[in-house]
Amino acid sequence: MQFTYSNPTTIFFGQGQIAAIKNAIPADKKVLMIYGGGSIKKNGVYEQVKTALEGYEWLEFSGVEPNPTKETLDKAVQVVKAENIDFILAVGGGSVIDGSKYVAAAATYEGDGWDILTRKHTVTEAVAIGTVLTLPATGSESNCGAVITKAETQDKLAFMTPYVHPQFAVMDPDVMKTLPENQLLNGLVDAWVHTCEQYITKNTGAYVQDAYAEGLLRSLKTLGEQFADRDNDEWRANLMWTANQALNGLIGAGVPQDWATHMLGHEFTALWGVAHARSLAIVQPSLLRNQIEAKREKLEQMGRNVFSLGADCSAEQTIDAIEQFYHQLDVATHFEQYETSKEAAVSAVVQQLDKHGMTALGENGAITLEESEKILNSAIA
Ligand code: NZQ
Ligand code: ZN
Repeated sequence: MQFTYSNPTTIFFGQGQIAAIKNAIPADKKVLMIYGGGSIKKNGVYEQVKTALEGYEWLEFSGVEPNPTKETLDKAVQVVKAENIDFILAVGGGSVIDGSKYVAAAATYEGDGWDILTRKHTVTEAVAIGTVLTLPATGSESNCGAVITKAETQDKLAFMTPYVHPQFAVMDPDVMKTLPENQLLNGLVDAWVHTCEQYITKNTGAYVQDAYAEGLLRSLKTLGEQFADRDNDEWRANLMWTANQALNGLIGAGVPQDWATHMLGHEFTALWGVAHARSLAIVQPSLLRNQIEAKREKLEQMGRNVFSLGADCSAEQTIDAIEQFYHQLDVATHFEQYETSKEAAVSAVVQQLDKHGMTALGENGAITLEESEKILNSAIA
């Protein structure tokens, strides 16, 4: 076990915490509030942020779309440069927060911001960021990652840099009251797969990381079982905190990580616009079955400690239980919405993976294009 861990994001958690922005942004900063398609105008979040920003010099940029595109975000980069913005306040879900991270990093760079995603440019500075989370799912509010799409070429790529780590995250569960059912499900599933990607690998005897990951998975399983009765403060607060802890760097410190489900899933989103979490549920059961030997010990542990399947449970049973968990939430584990044929759909994803260099995925680098093709043949109906 060997790692460096730092999560500098201050969390303001609970009802009414949007007001905390006031003390969290230095008074002399010129702020750009970035948000999405307008949900924050319908649920009072915009008004609360506006009140908290009284006395600041601030501007706003709206219209960041789900699966944020470089094409839209580059317009915000221009605003930051032209207006000498020195603090970005992201108000929204993972898309708005990821998009704001891109804007923060691209605004201090003279070239095309997409160079950050292709690794042509290494980020060495960024405009400071704060976040107000409105959709618990990605953990982006307190991590250093972002996933950006170039619509022109259907590329969806990720970057990570400590320079875009948010200074603070406001997490008021009340903002979730206006989330439609499908977005709540997406949040639950995304957080579940984030935990799995850092847990279902090989056993390295990391007691703390394993136990914490299992605690998060049990919490998400309970929230899934309570889904019909979700309209209460306790349910909302628990989902918001669990999703944050699933991807704030803690459970992944010092342990092998997989992320292959995410890499395959991103291609479904880039090609067919499949919502992020749905893409993960489509890929994961097939991927786990493909990698079952490498993951057998951890899957058995998960069967015992998360699903209570008993001392003698098998890896196969655990994967079945994971798939049942999705089905119980009415989340599909196979993809059927392709335009032409199954063969063409499989081949389209494989070509994208090849183009993006995703040729040795998983904690062992064992998921070659050949294995991905097998996984896709099972995941695509
Ligand atoms: O744009 P608005 O009008 O705000 O509507 C949004 C959007 O349409 C709506 N919404 C958000 N909060 C709401 C609300 N509607 C009603 N009430 C509220 N309180 O929800 C829709 C989806 O929002 P989005 O931000 O796209 O969802 P999510 O948080 O799931 O983010 C998904 C993005 O995050 C990336 C994904 O790839 C995807 O692009 N990820 C980022 C990660 C990270 N930075 O660490 C890791 C993840 O694995 C993921 O890849
Ligand atoms: Zn995810």
